[in-house]
Amino acid sequence: MSASNALEQIELHKALAPRYAYRYSFEFSRLFQEDWHAEMLRLLPERSERVLDLGCGTGFFLAELEALRPGAVGLDISHAMLRVSEQYVPGARLVTADAERLPFIDRSFDAIFCKGSLHHTRDHVRFLSNCARALRPEGVLIMSEPCNDNFLIRWARAAMYRISPHFHPDDRGFTKDELVGLMERSGFELVYAGRYGFLGYVFAGFPDHIGILRWVPGNAWIVRKMLAIDRWICSTRFLRILSFQVVVSGKPRAR
Ligand SMILES: C[S@@+](CC[C@H](N)C(=O)[O-])C[C@H]1O[C@@H](n2cnc3c(N)ncnc32)[C@H](O)[C@@H]1O
Repeated sequence: MSASNALEQIELHKALAPRYAYRYSFEFSRLFQEDWHAEMLRLLPERSERVLDLGCGTGFFLAELEALRPGAVGLDISHAMLRVSEQYVPGARLVTADAERLPFIDRSFDAIFCKGSLHHTRDHVRFLSNCARALRPEGVLIMSEPCNDNFLIRWARAAMYRISPHFHPDDRGFTKDELVGLMERSGFELVYAGRYGFLGYVFAGFPDHIGILRWVPGNAWIVRKMLAIDRWICSTRFLRILSFQVVVSGKPRAR
């Protein structure tokens, strides 16, 4: 089993919490994030009631989940990140804990969302097996993780994780097949695997890193056009390898 990196992630995200608040403070970046959330939410079965956002960070997605499914729970290892969530989802049900040691009884949730949290952990099978146990038999895991299928993106991401103090050098994305394989090894049956994000991801996803759109008039309109192009790219056979995220859903295999 890999050694836990819990303390390093807590330290890293202490410094990142204010950056996330800044990231989500622009209309054009919120537009992008909401489109990304919609891509995940369309995989949420109608009947799901009890929802967990695992690695919810500053709670920007949790606020949407709470509006759709009141009583949604957010969990994050970083208390500093969770504290920011008060501005998006006051009075939310929040848990400070490690996803590799999930503090819920079995079969607690109908749906678990993980948006960009799995790749920060070291024992991916343990993380995902915990999710399988915490889900009800008919429950669903819906994840979006950095996609490493394109070697240029894989290389650029690895370089950035190594150079920038805002990332951990040992974090890395997954190829789509790696992510699907991990899910299957952790007790999941794959329901869906697709891609998300290209232009919108780069120019609107992280204004704390790439901030050029902040100065461009009509940036919300531009982002809408980018999102339309991205939808076309992500659904086109020889182009979808350009995408920055892989979105998957799975249900626990019968126990
Ligand atoms: C890339 S951020 C994504 C945050 C949020 N989902 C969003 O989209 O804004 C990853 C989050 O995973 C959390 N995280 C890292 N390791 C974790 C662990 N072992 N257990 C729970 N959360 C963890 C971090 O603290 C951070 O908030």
